[in-house]
Amino acid sequence: MTPSPSTTTAIQLHVVHYNSETYANLSQAQHQADGLAVLGILIEAGDTPNPAYDNILRHLDSVQHAGQSVSIPAFDVGELLPQRLGHFYRYNGSLTTPPCLQSVLWTIFHQRVRISSAQLQQLQQTLFSTEPGSPHPQPLLDNFREPQALNDRLVLASFPVGPTGYSTGEIIAIVFGVLVGCLGVGLAAHFVAKRIRTKRRREQDVVFKSSSKRVTVG
Ligand SMILES: *[C@@H]1O[C@H](CO)[C@@H](O)[C@H](O)[C@H]1NC(C)=O
Ligand SMILES: *[C@@H]1O[C@H](CO)[C@@H](O)[C@H](O)[C@H]1NC(C)=O
Repeated sequence: MTPSPSTTTAIQLHVVHYNSETYANLSQAQHQADGLAVLGILIEAGDTPNPAYDNILRHLDSVQHAGQSVSIPAFDVGELLPQRLGHFYRYNGSLTTPPCLQSVLWTIFHQRVRISSAQLQQLQQTLFSTEPGSPHPQPLLDNFREPQALNDRLVLASFPVGPTGYSTGEIIAIVFGVLVGCLGVGLAAHFVAKRIRTKRRREQDVVFKSSSKRVTVG
């Protein structure tokens, strides 16, 4: 579903939008061919902390376990994206977690974003795929979805001068998923940010939850 990750890509961030012009909410939109648009951001670990990511990371403790969510203050999601937005891949694909509906127009940025190793560790060590109170807590590991068959779809690569920011529909979720963990460790956080239309003031009810779904189907 994504271009082959390089070995330096530790996690992937998904910024999920739904088509708010046509559909009432995510639940409704995800079943429609023109329902969702997702930005995929490949992330690698380096030495320098990326302060923008603390907008999410500081809330991890509230969503350690499956099914948990928390409201967090709105922030500029654009700061989570790479600088060079004009270089991206685009294709029609599906959700990376069950029910894996084929309703996503994917945009994967070519340029990677960096966070610090400490920030990566925070993600890797905080989250569990199990419910709160489980007698056998399971760390959230390797929850990436395997690449799927192309099935005659086109994957477009686009490198002209691109947009200066995201602009489509409403941002409703940010999902972290591990592509390749250098140590074989992974994580997923599911971040739900809700915005009224771009022209309006942003809503303050941003919801953040862990995404504990493991992918077992193709
Ligand atoms: C989504 O919208 C549909 C149609 O208006 C409604 O029936 C449904 O309850 C809504 N779901 C959520 C989760 O808000
Ligand atoms: C995705 O599917 C829509 C609807 O069939 C089509 O108009 C669009 O060109 C497709 N996009 C890509 C990148 O293939």
